[in-house]
Amino acid sequence: MDPTRQFAEQALAWAGTRNPGPWTDHSRYVAAACENIARRCPGLDPDRAYAYGLLHDIGRHAGVTSERHLLDGYRYCADRGWDKAAQICISHAFMIPDIGTSIGVFDMPPEDKAFMADFVKNAVYDDYDHLVQLCDALALPTGFCLLEKRFIDVALRYGTPPQMVPRWKRILEIKAMFEERMGCCLYDLLPGVIENSLR
Ligand SMILES: [Fe+2]
Repeated sequence: MDPTRQFAEQALAWAGTRNPGPWTDHSRYVAAACENIARRCPGLDPDRAYAYGLLHDIGRHAGVTSERHLLDGYRYCADRGWDKAAQICISHAFMIPDIGTSIGVFDMPPEDKAFMADFVKNAVYDDYDHLVQLCDALALPTGFCLLEKRFIDVALRYGTPPQMVPRWKRILEIKAMFEERMGCCLYDLLPGVIENSLR
């Protein structure tokens, strides 16, 4: 089952009251980018794409956490029967399907980390997983931005561990994949991206 747009919006509004922060605006831009891209891709459903984008960080409702937000989001969505949204709550952080490529901290009990490791290893990614992985990397809380700008933003906060460049390369591959399918430049679908990147 998939959340409707309205359910996803209500969930994010609730989560924002539990843990207010820029992450909710970031999520709204991720959702808008997912929707705009899905609209140009035959076979993709813009409403599903929007809801998945809106919910990808919903685990932040539980507070300020690192990789635990992935699992909290998974549980939040799985409890409601939103299985694909639940998968994306974890998969959006692993464009390379190996939890060893994480740039965060596994702030959770060992059994939860083992669950995530297995989950990621066995997950079969589809276009929606790829879409949210891509859009997560082009949305700041203040709007859309060039991928390279967001990459540097993350590198300044997390440093540049060895897995960083392979992660960037994978995102650029996903961008190329969607652009080929859409027959247009990704950034043409993201209003304000240039102005926002220059700020
Ligand atoms: Fe995100």
